[in-house]
Amino acid sequence: MSKDRKQIEEQMDRFFWLTLRMVIRGISILSLVIVFGLIFMLAEDHISEMWNNFTHSIEVKSQPLKQYEKSETREVVNGIHQETGLAYGVGFSTVKKVCLSCHSSALITQNKATAEGWDQMLTWMQKTQGLPALGKDRKVIVDYLSKNYGPVDTGRRPNLPVEEIEWYVLELE
Ligand code: HEC
Repeated sequence: MSKDRKQIEEQMDRFFWLTLRMVIRGISILSLVIVFGLIFMLAEDHISEMWNNFTHSIEVKSQPLKQYEKSETREVVNGIHQETGLAYGVGFSTVKKVCLSCHSSALITQNKATAEGWDQMLTWMQKTQGLPALGKDRKVIVDYLSKNYGPVDTGRRPNLPVEEIEWYVLELE
């Protein structure tokens, strides 16, 4: 065997082992990713629950007195925020913060009024029921109320959920 050939063979040898090591490293990283991915997929609910509990406990600790922040949920069905029963739209969070500290949303949702009417209702509540001054929130609140609980528009019932209706044949005898 000539010296050159031996050198070439040695180099190929080195190249082979280097490649093999890279491949093995690649495979092990990939399988680590897959294993963690699988674990996360399987335990996702559990992990997010733990995370929620964790963040939730921080929230509750920092705001112990504000009932509306204790169990905040964002579930909205047909435009209605499920936890509060209020229409979900511009101004929602302000109304939730300001208006639900004394009474439930039912007093709001069962009423319908124009912006003027709502404004008068707020004035009445300030004069007689201890509602504090609202500053620039007042306009946000009146806009929200007249838009979502105005005299015409929101008297409409929501569209029927056509897919959920169980149709049946009416039998006339
Ligand atoms: C400081 C406490 C307090 C706050 C804050 C408050 N209210 Fe009231 N509200 C009352 C009280 C007390 C009543 C009377 C309840 C009753 O008659 O049983 C009332 C009654 C109402 C009624 C019924 C009025 C009627 O004529 O039937 C509406 C509507 C209403 N509130 C809307 C709101 C809105 C909108 C907000 C937010 C801007 C708000 N309230 C914030 C105390 C409050």
